[in-house]
Amino acid sequence: MVLVTGGTGLLGSHLLLTLMRNNEVVRATYRTESSLRETRSLFEYYSKDGQALFEKIDWVKANITDIPALESAFEGITRVYHAAAMISFNPAAWEALKKTNVEGTANSVNLSLAHGVEKLCYASSIAAVGKGVQHGSVTEENEWAETESSVYALSKHLAEMEVWRGSQEGLDVVLVNPGVILGAGNWNQGSLRFFKNTARGMKRYFPGGTGFVDVMDVVHCMYQLMKSDVRNERFITVGGNLTYEEFLGSLSEAFGMPRPSKQIPLWILELGWRLDCFSHYFLRTKRRLTRDTVNSLNNPRQYSSQKIKDTLGFEFTDPRESIHRYCEYFRKTYLSPSS
Ligand SMILES: NC(=O)c1ccc[n+]([C@@H]2O[C@H](COP(=O)([O-])OP(=O)(O)OC[C@H]3O[C@@H](n4cnc5c(N)ncnc54)[C@H](OP(=O)(O)O)[C@@H]3O)[C@@H](O)[C@H]2O)c1
Repeated sequence: MVLVTGGTGLLGSHLLLTLMRNNEVVRATYRTESSLRETRSLFEYYSKDGQALFEKIDWVKANITDIPALESAFEGITRVYHAAAMISFNPAAWEALKKTNVEGTANSVNLSLAHGVEKLCYASSIAAVGKGVQHGSVTEENEWAETESSVYALSKHLAEMEVWRGSQEGLDVVLVNPGVILGAGNWNQGSLRFFKNTARGMKRYFPGGTGFVDVMDVVHCMYQLMKSDVRNERFITVGGNLTYEEFLGSLSEAFGMPRPSKQIPLWILELGWRLDCFSHYFLRTKRRLTRDTVNSLNNPRQYSSQKIKDTLGFEFTDPRESIHRYCEYFRKTYLSPSS
């Protein structure tokens, strides 16, 4: 039996759909009834038999920081996809990030070892790949450096260390390091907020760029890696590198909006995160812009997926194609008069 942690997330829900379509016997973790309902709706959106596929999943309510609840989720499991995680760039969220991402991964690794799991696939991030290149693309070989890393990146790096520890203790592991994931789901959360913000109209774009990937490509890489003999390796999964000008321009066009025409000057972003910090500490507002977010929005980093292409012979979807596909979903789900 296969276990998916974080089955209600963007990645987890698409992974579950693929596993169910491939007739796998699957258990998945969830935390709230509301996220379970959203996942059911997504299944129904994608498939006529979505509801039936959803109901075949053995859903277990478990927080990955709650070892007794996780214990029962791991009963009879032979393969684990660990996709549960917290995504936040707010430095004040460090303790929560450490608990969910680092301790939660350690729990998944320890229970995998205790239950004789054959293989674990960990959803890491390009944030956990070292950035130390001046020219050319970032690869899996880049050395990790804590400097210039966000709290999120650090938590994902430390989580990877837990996975590597598991491999030293006898667990077969594979890791994927996706870029910004594009898919269907709740546009109030995570990387999908780009869709919501652009649908409202964006006049300006950020200076840098990054790697983007279609959620189904990440899922297929994970599934194929788990079926293969590959073990104890990690793979950057990026379908294409785009500047934010290109990315937000394509998103705007797909929503029928004008492309953002001006770059946000760096000094505004620099001033912005300081004002945001001030307002957070003195007026108790929610953090929206941090220094790390500004660093990442300003950086024109490029990522190479050559290793996974060579290993699996995998061809990625162009992110511009994914943008059009998922804008269609968001238009129907959030913008049509009946929604
Ligand atoms: N989205 C991206 O652009 C991106 C890029 C690179 C890597 N990743 C990585 O890919 C993985 C999946 O990300 P995603 O985009 O699918 O994130 P997501 O949509 O925010 O989903 C996260 C999932 O983790 C669950 N979760 C969070 N904290 C938990 C806890 N303490 N115990 C149990 N479950 C918990 C969430 O449950 P609820 O539904 O109850 O909240 C949800 O199912 C993560 O490891 C993330 O770091 C994401």
